[in-house]
Amino acid sequence: MLAILGGSGLSQLSSLSDVRRIAARTTFGDPSGPLTLGRIGGRELMFLARHGDAHSIPPHQVNYRANIQALKDAGATRIASVATVGGIRREFGPGVLVVPDQIIDYTWGRASTFFEGPSAKVTHIDFTEPYSGAMRKAMLAAAGACSEAIADGGCYGVTQGPRLETAAEIARMERDGADLVGMTAMPEAALAREAGLEYAAIAVVANHAAGKSDSARAISIGAIESVVEQAMQRVRRILEKLAIS
Ligand code: HPA
Repeated sequence: MLAILGGSGLSQLSSLSDVRRIAARTTFGDPSGPLTLGRIGGRELMFLARHGDAHSIPPHQVNYRANIQALKDAGATRIASVATVGGIRREFGPGVLVVPDQIIDYTWGRASTFFEGPSAKVTHIDFTEPYSGAMRKAMLAAAGACSEAIADGGCYGVTQGPRLETAAEIARMERDGADLVGMTAMPEAALAREAGLEYAAIAVVANHAAGKSDSARAISIGAIESVVEQAMQRVRRILEKLAIS
């Protein structure tokens, strides 16, 4: 079953029918909120708001392990993650949608593996390709089916937040090869891999990253909200196609 992990600007999916809400508990604690189960075009899917229903959980305090475990326990086999990001690559300006294909992790101090604790065996996962190729293809096809432009590939640099970056940090990330900057792809993507779930993301560019283009001097937080609100309408259409694919 498809699970959608919604980020800023996507805290619910209005097109669901037969909606049920379930409060999930895991051995890693509580997920960000209740899971919403429902149907689109006859297909069952589930939804979870990463930052909680009231958008009150900052990126560094999201219980990523509980979120992934709760989705898996409820029957998810594939996860479509939606996240707002800043654009580092010039052509990734506000409103652009991207299906990233690589990740650089700059986060710290987050619980980032299921494989720890007294009874866990030391386990290493392959993470050469951090996103599921099949899920990425399905997302690109879903976007094509509803004629929504979406970029195929980009490297998502994950920062700790919740503050935005300095211009020097973005310049360094660009030298590292990052095309996008956001705060939530890790450890989420790695945990999904550990849990054996297909995982890919739609990154919604909300602003040029710090020091870039019209963010050369500052990032306009006010402008971000309206860009994201409009872009999420397009993301919803893509997700609805993905759900029935
Ligand atoms: N940096 C990090 N995360 C973000 C940004 C950004 O510029 N915009 C939206 N999420």
